[in-house]
Amino acid sequence: MTEQEILNILKEVRHPGKGDRSVVDLGMVDGIETGTGKVAVTLAFTGRKDPLADYLGGAVRAALIRNLPKDTQINVKTVVKEEAPHKKPMELDDQGLAGVRHIIGIASGKGGVGKSTVAVNLAVALARMGFKVGLADADVYGPSIPVMTGTQEASPEVAETRGQDGEEARQWFVPIEKYGVKWMSIGYFAKPEQALIWRGPMASGALKQMILQVKWDDLDYLLVDMPPGTGDIHISLVRDIPLEGAIIVTTPQQVALSDVLKGVNMFQTQGVEKPVYGLVENMAWFTPAELPDNKYYIFGKDGGVRMAKELGLELLGQIPLVQGIRESGDSGEPAALGSTPDGVAFIALAGRIAEILP
Ligand SMILES: Nc1ncnc2c1ncn2[C@@H]1O[C@H](COP(=O)(O)OP(=O)(O)OP(=O)(O)O)[C@@H](O)[C@H]1O
Ligand SMILES: [Mg+2]
Repeated sequence: MTEQEILNILKEVRHPGKGDRSVVDLGMVDGIETGTGKVAVTLAFTGRKDPLADYLGGAVRAALIRNLPKDTQINVKTVVKEEAPHKKPMELDDQGLAGVRHIIGIASGKGGVGKSTVAVNLAVALARMGFKVGLADADVYGPSIPVMTGTQEASPEVAETRGQDGEEARQWFVPIEKYGVKWMSIGYFAKPEQALIWRGPMASGALKQMILQVKWDDLDYLLVDMPPGTGDIHISLVRDIPLEGAIIVTTPQQVALSDVLKGVNMFQTQGVEKPVYGLVENMAWFTPAELPDNKYYIFGKDGGVRMAKELGLELLGQIPLVQGIRESGDSGEPAALGSTPDGVAFIALAGRIAEILP
């Protein structure tokens, strides 16, 4: 491997905040070292910390993994150069959330139960009721918000606020607005294959950025669509962002009870201790589009009701399984925009949330 070959690979990596120019053209590649079976790349950022530094580090790593022989040891470092004197590097804090009234996590114990579907539709339903709503996609491994809202072509701008009294200026991602909701997702920056290889601290850093470094302005509700699972990254996320509480999404099967319990416990671990407002039973029954009054309990009847009772939680809403929901998920038009049985169920759920968290 020569330096030139590595540079050619790095030309694939573009900076979405700088007119999509490559990190090579932008002069950000500060050093390349190659040895037998080894490559080390240093990316340099000038001045204050680039909000996309972690993302670009991940993207460079992904490009190298894709293009180099399988066992190559890859090391990517990011450094900040020529930092102006007397300025501390920017740290993420919750300043961007100062105007947000309620921050609610949408979680589950298990993947694929419809968290993102519920999060998107609840956001749209609350917006239809006249509230100011935002949704942060916390799933850095499989972001689904851009597709579900038909915003996958969108690319968030970076805004700067001036520092006061010698304080450093800050950069913010401007969320994408559609259906009256402000959306933010790592999917707007990373291609799917890049998102997947993020691990550990980098993933958790990117995740925090999607919530803390966003210009949400004033919101009544900020929903956070949590990634599937209840592992360390979740607990760390729940600890690091000022969530007020959470809603747990589940399906009716009895087997799901232990999963739901895991989801609930995640918010009750020591150092977290956030309230769980209740359960949303998704796919509670099947309703064919042509027979909207017929309910078929294909996963068993009242599983959600029993589960809520056993856990001492409120059943906040029941969402039917309607062919249309899947189609609307794929087409980017959430069901909550319309008045089909599922759309109506989401509006009812939003009404209950607004009652609990006025
Ligand atoms: N009530 C419903 N009726 C029909 N299809 C649904 C319903 N809820 C979810 N789906 C479909 O099920 C699939 C999984 O839903 P979704 O992506 O919302 O789940 P998730 O819990 O967010 O998954 P993950 O754990 O991967 O993040 C999607 O294809 C979605 O369109
Ligand atoms: Mg999801």
